[in-house]
Amino acid sequence: MNLDAELYGAKAIPYDHVKRFFQATLPQIEFSKDHEKEVVLDAGCGPGGSTFNLVLPLFPQLEKLYAIDMLHNMIYNAERNNSHPLIEYRVADIENWPTVKKWEGQITKLVSIYCLHWLEDTKEGFQNIHRLLKPGGKAAICFVLQSIFYDAMKDMENSKWRSYYKDVGDYLPDAHLNKRNASYYEQMVKEVGFEILYLKEESTTDVFSTVEEYKNFYSSICVVLSHVPVNKREEFKNELFEEMIKLGGRTNDGLPVHKSTAIQLVIRKKEQ
Ligand SMILES: C[S@@+](CC[C@H](N)C(=O)[O-])C[C@H]1O[C@@H](n2cnc3c(N)ncnc32)[C@H](O)[C@@H]1O
Repeated sequence: MNLDAELYGAKAIPYDHVKRFFQATLPQIEFSKDHEKEVVLDAGCGPGGSTFNLVLPLFPQLEKLYAIDMLHNMIYNAERNNSHPLIEYRVADIENWPTVKKWEGQITKLVSIYCLHWLEDTKEGFQNIHRLLKPGGKAAICFVLQSIFYDAMKDMENSKWRSYYKDVGDYLPDAHLNKRNASYYEQMVKEVGFEILYLKEESTTDVFSTVEEYKNFYSSICVVLSHVPVNKREEFKNELFEEMIKLGGRTNDGLPVHKSTAIQLVIRKKEQ
């Protein structure tokens, strides 16, 4: 998988519903208490904008925040643009136990923003999260279920761009392809051994502040783009943008809108 860390940008993920989850919901349900010393892991941190701006402020008594991503370029950008003395960025894959095993049973809080839908085997990811947490440790996780971005990518495949898709592999997440809903994941995390503290499935409408931000963000996470010849990439990005606008529309002010359904989940590993 090849994603563009530069285009993704160094800011927090541009979704208001994710910001509300971190800045309103998690404090309300006392995900972290003021006096608790925390060793936190952020799984799928990307270029670190959300780690720095949304995750770090949640933990006043932070001892360490490990932020991992499977892609070297994401970690490289995170270290350059979102460094902090308490954050340690590392290349590791939450679906691949040997790469995360060094933190087994040490993590008091795990967060993951828009990463778990990328996994080939989501249950394996939840099992690894369970092994990483201390007994009583909690995880706050949000990811996309269905999105107009994936519908637009599918539409593009049925057009002149088809040949560039042939080496991409499975680019549609299982959640989108099989129309998974929150109860599917509720069942999964219970089977893994978690208690559920909070669960919400939400239809989301996120307005981007500029067309450029919208285009750059979706181009950065479009796994097909690196398979398109360099001289055709601008055209590809423009068509992807037009497809998404057909599906998501614009506000009265002309700002581009992203529509999706997403899941927010707070779970706890049982005390032994
Ligand atoms: C949409 S980005 C979200 C980044 C960041 N959490 C944020 O809020 O901006 C998803 C990130 O998850 C990473 N990722 C996908 N699968 C992963 C895995 N199995 N282990 C670790 N990182 C993964 C990708 O490389 C990408 O950087």
